[in-house]
Amino acid sequence: MNQEQLLRELSEFLRIPSVSTLPAHNQDCRAAAEWVAAELRRLGCRDVDFLGSETHPVVWGKGPDVPGAPTLLLYGHYDVQPPDPLAEWTKPPFEPTISDGRIYARGAADDKGQVFCLLKAIAASPRPAVNFRFLIEGEEEYGSKVLFDLLKREPQRVRADAVLVADMSYVAPGWPAVYTTLRGLCYAEITVRTSKTDLHSGEYGGAAPNAHEELCRLLTRLKSEDGKINIPGFYTAVKRPSKAELAAWKKLPFNEKDFLTKRVQGKGLVGRKKYSVLERLWALPTFEIHGILGGFTGQGAKTVIPAEATAKVSMRLVPNQKLATVERQLAAAVKRFTPRHVTASVRFLHGADPAQIKIDHPAFTLLERAFREVTGRGTVAARAGGSIPVVPALGSAGAPVILTGIGLPDDRLHAPNEKLDLKQLWDGIEVFRRFYELLGGAARM
Ligand code: BES
Ligand code: MN
Ligand code: MN
Repeated sequence: MNQEQLLRELSEFLRIPSVSTLPAHNQDCRAAAEWVAAELRRLGCRDVDFLGSETHPVVWGKGPDVPGAPTLLLYGHYDVQPPDPLAEWTKPPFEPTISDGRIYARGAADDKGQVFCLLKAIAASPRPAVNFRFLIEGEEEYGSKVLFDLLKREPQRVRADAVLVADMSYVAPGWPAVYTTLRGLCYAEITVRTSKTDLHSGEYGGAAPNAHEELCRLLTRLKSEDGKINIPGFYTAVKRPSKAELAAWKKLPFNEKDFLTKRVQGKGLVGRKKYSVLERLWALPTFEIHGILGGFTGQGAKTVIPAEATAKVSMRLVPNQKLATVERQLAAAVKRFTPRHVTASVRFLHGADPAQIKIDHPAFTLLERAFREVTGRGTVAARAGGSIPVVPALGSAGAPVILTGIGLPDDRLHAPNEKLDLKQLWDGIEVFRRFYELLGGAARM
């Protein structure tokens, strides 16, 4: 298929605003699932199925049977993050635009462009000797509940010789990677209440408690300025990377100064300064405040003491932390740090355990070779700061889970002007095509 045709098809996929965390987009998520299903049928799949949900189904498919050939399960997600702040997009997020060799749209790199790559690589091979299975989900950006429930009911769906997940990036341009860990996540809302209703700040100010002030104090007790998280017990399970791993990271093409000036584009980095930036990003847990709701934020001025305030927060978890333990620890810490005149509550929205992957299975060598042949460099081992909740479940039947991707570190995932470089896309199709071919040629693993 020629590149123009491929770009037309990818644009069609990117045009669907399949934002899984916003109920107003339920029909769009369904439409994106239909797009994937049609693509699977075109690849000759039997048993294309929508599983687990009407609006955010897992799209399941089974490629043509090739007796004796290895089974490869492909995983990806068709849902995307909300596009806001809209004003900061140069072109609208759901009107894919090509300029300077890149395609700009929400989902271009995370993950529609990469799902597209996995599928078009099959179409590009003359009959790969691989038994393909597909699990393309529509709720990854919201915690993957539908897929989790499905795999609990039907664990045999992940039976395969290998699982390929393309939802990550190179560590730097020209440096493809496979990942040995993903951080987990614990997403929560912390709400404080200080009085029955809002109060006049003149009549009551000076003697009545203020919910926003109490929330701010609570949040700064949970994490101090030096980046240390003060939730009792939080670091107990954290396992430091080995000396060998830390030494290997020093050889990666990563420069702390470039990270600040080119990627963060801020004035300084924060966090626990006695650890390297990569260790802070990959091997230490975090506590982030995503937003604070409540009180008066409208136009003009209103003199009021807010009675309630809510913070949306999340913690990234690292090996060997456990989601269930961290939930308990956060709830206990909030209770302990809340003064008696304040009522605080914690509601957990979603989460995931961290993932750890051994990369010694022969399938990793084949992917390494495919990357080397196509891009001139094999994969380096790295860790990822982000999360893909179902990864531990994808490996639960014993198949090696290969975490890789064709994005670049500056793709602006979840942010305005997300993009995918077209060279990455064309190379990616070629890399996966070659990987399928090598896998099909390998003796049963
Ligand atoms: N593709 C990302 C995960 C990712 C990002 C891995 C960068 C490695 C590097 C994925 O789509 C994602 O954003 N996951 C969410 C999961 C969460 C909402 C449960 C995340 O990490 O915030
Ligand atoms: Mn993703
Ligand atoms: Mn994402």
